[in-house]
Amino acid sequence: MTGSLRKPLVAGNWKMNGTSASLDEARKIAEGAQDFADVVDVMVCPPATLIARLDLRCAGTDLLLGGQDCHAEPAGAHTGDVSADMLVDAGASAVILGHSERRIDHKESSQSVADKVAAAHRVGLTAIVCVGETEIERKSGQANNVVGEQVRLSLPSTTTGQNVVIAYEPVWAIGTGMTPTTTDISEMHGVIRAMLADRFGEAAAAAMRILYGGSVKPANAAQLLRIDNVDGALVGGASLKAQDFLAILGIYGTRSVETVSVGA
Ligand code: 13P
Repeated sequence: MTGSLRKPLVAGNWKMNGTSASLDEARKIAEGAQDFADVVDVMVCPPATLIARLDLRCAGTDLLLGGQDCHAEPAGAHTGDVSADMLVDAGASAVILGHSERRIDHKESSQSVADKVAAAHRVGLTAIVCVGETEIERKSGQANNVVGEQVRLSLPSTTTGQNVVIAYEPVWAIGTGMTPTTTDISEMHGVIRAMLADRFGEAAAAAMRILYGGSVKPANAAQLLRIDNVDGALVGGASLKAQDFLAILGIYGTRSVETVSVGA
């Protein structure tokens, strides 16, 4: 199966950026993305403080909203945390989980990520589960094993082809301007899909979207997102400016161009 049979998803991860001054930018993204609504799902994951306001500001458009993390418990004495249910209440349909910045800053294990994914599923949120190797792991030839293990341990038994999206984000490519070769991305996405098929069956693996993330920009989007088995992108820095984010979506305006198969 080629990536073209799964509707691509391009999600912007705003990380810890954005205040009420960003609402106009979000509206520009939402309006511009309407041109591509038939061929690509478009999502913005703002800080939790902005989800409800973006939901109001972008009303009447197809823009999807996501959170950036949630607690594994539905409610209770967890100062500073946000539950999956609260994200739904604010207008989100998805949540990013296991981003490498959380795995590093908050020492999140794959097991704790799996617990959060299960919490997201209990309230009907799609989990965008991030995996990726460090530079040392890639240089020492361990990338496939590390990422395969992250995928295996970060997904609970509630996972289906529809309620999880995988985002392959090599840690060394995030915010650095560096990206893996198209061959390396294709190979890794193949490894991930094989692992998914093994655990959840061929049908679920074939339906699940696997995004690439890490220094996706307008200048490299066409090359990165047309790789066979790449079903869209998780975009950091370039999702903060409507002009850049819409330029990345622009590659789907020429979707008739065949996806590129690269030898693994
Ligand atoms: P950049 O696009 O800024 O490299 O960030 C990628 C990322 O971490 C998205 O989750």
